[in-house]
Amino acid sequence: MSEMITLTIDGKTCQTQEGEYLLNVARANNIYIPAICYLTRCSPTLACRLCLVEADGKQVYACNAKAKEGMQIQTVTENIAKERRAIMEVYDVNHPLQCGVCDQSGDCELQNNTLYMKVDSQSYAVRDTYRPTTHWGVMNYDPGLCIVCEKCVTVCKDMIGSNALSTVKRDSDALDKDFKENMPKDAYAMWNKLNKSLIGFEKDKCIDCGECISVCPVGALVSHDFQYKSNSWELTKIPASNPHSSDCSLMYYEVKHTSIADQMPMIYRVTNEHHYASLSGAARFGYDFENKNATKNQKEFNEAIEAFKQANTIKFNSYITNEEALILEKLREKLGVKLVNEDAKRFQNFMNHFASTSGSRFYNATLKDIHNSNFLISVGSFLKSDAPSVKYAFNNAITLNKGAGLYFHPLGDTHVEGFGKKGKTIETITYAPLREEAILFLILELFGENLPENLRHYLNTLKTKKTKKVVEVVKETISEMVKDEETGEEKEVKKVVSNNVEKEVEYESLQLFELIGCDESLLETINAMLDKKDSYSLIVGEDLIYHPQSANLAKLCGLIQKYTPFKVMIIPTQTNTLGVSLICTLDEQEEGFVVGYNEKANFELSALGDGNINIPALNQQEGTFTSCDKRVVPTNVALPYGGYVLNDFANELLEDEVEYTIEYTEQLPQEKGFKSIEFDQLPNEFKNNQEENRGYLLDNATQESIESFEPIEKLYGFTGTVIYKANPINQFNEFTYKAHQLSNDKTALYVSSSLMEKLGLNENDKVEVSTSSSKEELEVIIDHHLTSDIAYVSYFDKTIPTKQLFSTSRYSSATIKKV
Ligand code: SF4
Ligand code: SF4
Ligand code: FES
Repeated sequence: MSEMITLTIDGKTCQTQEGEYLLNVARANNIYIPAICYLTRCSPTLACRLCLVEADGKQVYACNAKAKEGMQIQTVTENIAKERRAIMEVYDVNHPLQCGVCDQSGDCELQNNTLYMKVDSQSYAVRDTYRPTTHWGVMNYDPGLCIVCEKCVTVCKDMIGSNALSTVKRDSDALDKDFKENMPKDAYAMWNKLNKSLIGFEKDKCIDCGECISVCPVGALVSHDFQYKSNSWELTKIPASNPHSSDCSLMYYEVKHTSIADQMPMIYRVTNEHHYASLSGAARFGYDFENKNATKNQKEFNEAIEAFKQANTIKFNSYITNEEALILEKLREKLGVKLVNEDAKRFQNFMNHFASTSGSRFYNATLKDIHNSNFLISVGSFLKSDAPSVKYAFNNAITLNKGAGLYFHPLGDTHVEGFGKKGKTIETITYAPLREEAILFLILELFGENLPENLRHYLNTLKTKKTKKVVEVVKETISEMVKDEETGEEKEVKKVVSNNVEKEVEYESLQLFELIGCDESLLETINAMLDKKDSYSLIVGEDLIYHPQSANLAKLCGLIQKYTPFKVMIIPTQTNTLGVSLICTLDEQEEGFVVGYNEKANFELSALGDGNINIPALNQQEGTFTSCDKRVVPTNVALPYGGYVLNDFANELLEDEVEYTIEYTEQLPQEKGFKSIEFDQLPNEFKNNQEENRGYLLDNATQESIESFEPIEKLYGFTGTVIYKANPINQFNEFTYKAHQLSNDKTALYVSSSLMEKLGLNENDKVEVSTSSSKEELEVIIDHHLTSDIAYVSYFDKTIPTKQLFSTSRYSSATIKKV
């Protein structure tokens, strides 16, 4: 951790960590420095040059200059004001005057800075060239509006990890020489570059996350769907939390009436605070999943009450709020029903085993820890689809912190291989499914400190002495007779030569590499990666939770947290898996008459509107989620809802009179780490100093730990084609699939091109996929990022029961036949 230092900005004393960028120090102290191109958490691009300041008498760029003890900063001088004014004039050269229809108008950094710099005349000019608009995946790019700030390029590379955008050359007239001689020099340099560049796009690399749209300061990149739909000042911003995955990122539903004729509110787009939290494509584009047209009907209500009374089981998933989970728990207590939620139950079991060896109720990493680390390992998560925010953090850490990482997953993924800057900063290790015990033992072997005796002993049994041939360079001194050209005399000269000598050496072989199914040379790679690394994160994914040996894996994760320098993140599988697993007493098996809460059952309450009675979708509810950061975060109502909510049924069944569901927020169980805080007291914002001021963090608890684990007893074998349960990028559940911008995805068998060739298939063929538990007819779709011969089957569509193809894990042996 860097030292705290003191400096002054415009006479104000500011404290910060040594090495922090001056711009961030100013922002944390509420001091304004104009800046268009800098993105917090990404590398400075120095494209706009607006952030010029004077530091100890020298002009520097605040986004790139680092804080030092005692520095004196002036944010504006006469020369800096001239430069900034000229820069803004240049940005306005040939910028189309279409603010009346431009989507960014009102939120536009070009407009804001032009006004702030009081630009009311134009001193510069160059002939414009034709720059046509293009359509890129989810967005439109208008090069005429683009100010080549490179923010989109930077966020795609440094944060998202796609590298789909770059600056490219364009035809243009040269700038008049007079400008070079007479205008402020930073403004000229910026203009010269701007005049020759625009942005290029590689479709195959793009994952349609839309983060580049979010960071664009002008209207050059806009969502195709949102374009020309609304001015930004007409939209009401409703703070919420991502309802589709456990990052529960802060986001805003932007809402206004549907049309002049239809005054019903509608969500027009989702936006985010891109300096502090990035969004997945699912959160950004999967917003219109509300349960429309629900009304109250006493007969249906009575039937629902009867169904609850008759129920032996209530079955549900973790796409619900903490408050709904608490109501279900109260119904369990009152009605004596079983609560069945496979997702939360598996996570609950995993965390109980984890706590037994770690001694801690929770894993100790947050997303911010992952962003800040410089050596990362991901095990058992298909990161690009399972957990986009964790993937961003992984890439961001490798890219910005001179970090390195290991990505262990049976499905090879070129998207992940592209992380980091040029050079080998990430190693992806593909292995046969379900070998994760060996990976966790390897981490304990390589990084464990003061390991318990039984573990040390077991790890020693996995070592053998082996010999290998190595080539050594041996230096030898030889003598040569050399003739002096002038005198003709011969004399002896000695010189040193290097010879390659092959020899056999003994070494300690770790059987764990063989058990994982990877080459022992990985050890050298890891050792090379570890140079100058001091901050470690382990990311643990769903494959370990849905694993026949999940109890042992959880215990090993606990031992890693306790005995290695790694901070551990166990990614909760659904939005509120962690919250539900803490609040509810869950059973494994359903029985008897089942009431389904967003699950198929004898009587179903459904937020999709396809059940026996309606309940609200998550964009129609207020309440809280528990995020992967162990943070309880609020979400708000974006759209109205006319039907019954769970609280209405609970009032009847519990003989209670709770007016609003959020009255349960302060009743969340404190013995599980929740706090007694009213919903309306929960903040949902980031502060200027980047502090996450959202809800509250759960209290951890410690317990006595035991050093127990099982040795590796079995290597799992698969026959035929191996299939994996995973969704394509941006799909998480039936609600993302319902959203109009994501509804074109298909429930399919996703394959690499090499597997497609091996199976003799073509894209869009129909195949029958059969496993020991089920069979399903599916379309074949290529995932160009896949490199291995394991296919994945999506499960986001509730109406196609592909989950049944899998039984004890996310993997299954399958027979694939063309139909
Ligand atoms: S498209 Fe937007 S974000 Fe990208 S360089 Fe142009 S102005 Fe900047
Ligand atoms: S949508 Fe996402 S992946 Fe595609 S170019 Fe933009 S930032 Fe990159
Ligand atoms: S913000 Fe520093 S150069 Fe643009």
